Amino acid sequence: MASLFAFGTTIAAAGEPNAGAKVFKSECAECHTVKQGHNKKGPSLFGIVGRPSASLPDYNYSDALRSRHWTWTEDQLRTYISQPAKKADPGTKMKYDGLDDPKQVDDLISYLSTLH
Ligand code: HEC
Repeated sequence: MASLFAFGTTIAAAGEPNAGAKVFKSECAECHTVKQGHNKKGPSLFGIVGRPSASLPDYNYSDALRSRHWTWTEDQLRTYISQPAKKADPGTKMKYDGLDDPKQVDDLISYLSTLH
Protein backbone atom coordinates (compact mmCIF):
# COMPACT_ATOMS: atom_id res chain seq x y z
CA MET A 1 0.00 0.00 0.00
CA ALA A 2 1.42 3.35 -0.99
CA SER A 3 0.19 5.41 1.88
CA LEU A 4 -2.34 5.23 4.65
CA PHE A 5 -3.10 8.91 4.35
CA ALA A 6 -2.94 11.55 1.65
CA PHE A 7 -1.01 14.76 2.10
CA GLY A 8 -2.97 17.90 1.53
CA THR A 9 -6.38 16.36 1.90
CA THR A 10 -6.56 16.09 5.66
CA ILE A 11 -8.79 18.31 7.76
CA ALA A 12 -6.85 21.20 9.22
CA ALA A 13 -8.64 21.32 12.54
CA ALA A 14 -8.71 17.67 13.48
CA GLY A 15 -5.07 16.74 13.13
CA GLU A 16 -3.47 13.69 11.57
CA PRO A 17 -2.50 10.89 13.96
CA ASN A 18 0.12 9.32 11.66
CA ALA A 19 1.91 12.63 11.33
CA GLY A 20 1.48 13.15 15.07
CA ALA A 21 3.29 9.88 15.79
CA LYS A 22 6.34 11.33 14.04
CA VAL A 23 6.08 14.56 15.98
CA PHE A 24 5.95 12.48 19.15
CA LYS A 25 9.11 10.62 18.15
CA SER A 26 11.10 13.73 17.43
CA GLU A 27 9.77 15.98 20.21
CA CYS A 28 8.64 13.85 23.14
CA ALA A 29 10.11 10.33 22.92
CA GLU A 30 13.41 11.37 24.51
CA CYS A 31 11.52 11.61 27.80
CA HIS A 32 8.17 9.86 27.31
CA THR A 33 6.86 6.51 26.14
CA VAL A 34 3.29 5.78 25.09
CA LYS A 35 3.39 2.39 26.77
CA GLN A 36 1.32 1.87 29.86
CA GLY A 37 3.52 1.63 32.96
CA HIS A 38 6.74 2.67 31.19
CA ASN A 39 8.05 5.96 32.53
CA LYS A 40 11.30 7.54 31.36
CA LYS A 41 12.47 10.97 32.48
CA GLY A 42 8.81 11.88 32.16
CA PRO A 43 5.65 9.85 32.90
CA SER A 44 4.07 7.48 30.39
CA LEU A 45 1.66 9.28 28.09
CA PHE A 46 -0.53 6.22 27.53
CA GLY A 47 -4.15 7.35 27.80
CA ILE A 48 -3.07 10.93 28.49
CA VAL A 49 -6.09 12.57 26.86
CA GLY A 50 -8.71 12.80 29.58
CA ARG A 51 -6.31 11.77 32.36
CA PRO A 52 -6.07 13.93 35.50
CA SER A 53 -2.64 15.61 35.80
CA ALA A 54 0.01 14.01 38.02
CA SER A 55 -2.11 10.88 38.50
CA LEU A 56 0.30 8.00 37.82
CA PRO A 57 1.09 6.29 41.14
CA ASP A 58 4.53 5.08 39.98
CA TYR A 59 5.90 8.43 38.80
CA ASN A 60 7.52 11.05 41.01
CA TYR A 61 5.94 14.32 39.86
CA SER A 62 7.10 17.81 40.80
CA ASP A 63 5.18 19.60 43.54
CA ALA A 64 4.26 22.17 40.88
CA LEU A 65 2.38 19.69 38.73
CA ARG A 66 0.92 17.89 41.74
CA SER A 67 -0.67 21.14 42.87
CA ARG A 68 -2.39 21.87 39.54
CA HIS A 69 -5.34 19.49 39.49
CA TRP A 70 -5.69 19.84 35.74
CA THR A 71 -7.37 17.35 33.46
CA TRP A 72 -5.48 16.71 30.23
CA THR A 73 -8.19 17.70 27.81
CA GLU A 74 -7.11 18.49 24.28
CA ASP A 75 -7.20 22.21 25.12
CA GLN A 76 -5.15 21.75 28.27
CA LEU A 77 -2.56 19.74 26.37
CA ARG A 78 -2.43 22.38 23.66
CA THR A 79 -1.78 25.09 26.23
CA TYR A 80 0.89 23.00 27.95
CA ILE A 81 2.96 21.97 24.93
CA SER A 82 2.70 25.07 22.75
CA GLN A 83 4.85 27.17 25.08
CA PRO A 84 7.87 26.54 27.31
CA ALA A 85 6.73 24.10 29.99
CA LYS A 86 8.15 26.24 32.76
CA LYS A 87 5.89 29.07 31.59
CA ALA A 88 2.81 26.87 31.41
CA ASP A 89 3.60 25.37 34.79
CA PRO A 90 6.21 27.30 36.80
CA GLY A 91 8.23 24.86 38.88
CA THR A 92 7.66 21.87 36.59
CA LYS A 93 10.52 19.50 35.99
CA MET A 94 9.60 19.05 32.33
CA LYS A 95 12.34 20.80 30.37
CA TYR A 96 10.66 21.52 27.06
CA ASP A 97 10.68 24.72 25.00
CA GLY A 98 7.32 24.26 23.34
CA LEU A 99 6.06 23.30 19.92
CA ASP A 100 5.53 26.37 17.72
CA ASP A 101 3.74 24.87 14.74
CA PRO A 102 -0.04 24.66 15.42
CA LYS A 103 -0.40 21.94 12.77
CA GLN A 104 2.15 19.77 14.57
CA VAL A 105 0.36 20.43 17.85
CA ASP A 106 -2.96 19.30 16.33
CA ASP A 107 -1.35 16.22 14.78
CA LEU A 108 0.35 15.31 18.03
CA ILE A 109 -2.83 15.67 20.07
CA SER A 110 -4.83 13.56 17.66
CA TYR A 111 -2.12 10.90 17.92
CA LEU A 112 -2.15 11.06 21.72
CA SER A 113 -5.93 10.67 21.74
CA THR A 114 -5.60 7.29 19.96
CA LEU A 115 -3.65 5.83 22.90
CA HIS A 116 -6.31 4.04 24.90
C1 HEC B 1 13.38 16.70 28.28
C2 HEC B 1 12.34 15.78 28.70
C3 HEC B 1 10.91 15.99 28.22
C4 HEC B 1 10.45 16.26 26.95
C5 HEC B 1 11.25 16.47 25.67
C6 HEC B 1 9.01 16.28 27.05
N1 HEC B 1 8.61 16.03 28.33
FE1 HEC B 1 6.69 15.95 29.03
N2 HEC B 1 7.37 15.67 30.92
C7 HEC B 1 8.69 15.57 31.29
C8 HEC B 1 8.79 15.50 32.72
C9 HEC B 1 10.08 15.39 33.53
C10 HEC B 1 7.46 15.55 33.21
C11 HEC B 1 7.00 15.59 34.67
C12 HEC B 1 6.68 17.04 34.99
C13 HEC B 1 6.50 17.39 36.45
O1 HEC B 1 6.37 16.48 37.31
O2 HEC B 1 6.50 18.60 36.74
C14 HEC B 1 6.59 15.65 32.05
C15 HEC B 1 5.19 15.70 32.10
C16 HEC B 1 4.36 15.73 31.00
C17 HEC B 1 2.93 15.69 31.06
C18 HEC B 1 2.08 15.55 32.31
C19 HEC B 1 1.72 14.08 32.48
C20 HEC B 1 0.91 13.73 33.72
O3 HEC B 1 0.87 12.53 34.06
O4 HEC B 1 0.31 14.63 34.32
C21 HEC B 1 2.48 15.75 29.78
C22 HEC B 1 1.05 15.75 29.32
C23 HEC B 1 3.63 15.83 28.93
N3 HEC B 1 4.78 15.82 29.71
C24 HEC B 1 3.59 15.88 27.56
C25 HEC B 1 4.70 16.02 26.74
C26 HEC B 1 4.63 16.07 25.30
C27 HEC B 1 3.36 15.91 24.48
C28 HEC B 1 5.91 16.26 24.84
C29 HEC B 1 6.37 16.46 23.41
C30 HEC B 1 5.77 17.56 22.71
C31 HEC B 1 6.78 16.30 26.01
N4 HEC B 1 6.01 16.15 27.13
C32 HEC B 1 8.16 16.48 25.97
C33 HEC B 1 9.77 15.56 30.44
C34 HEC B 1 9.74 15.86 29.08
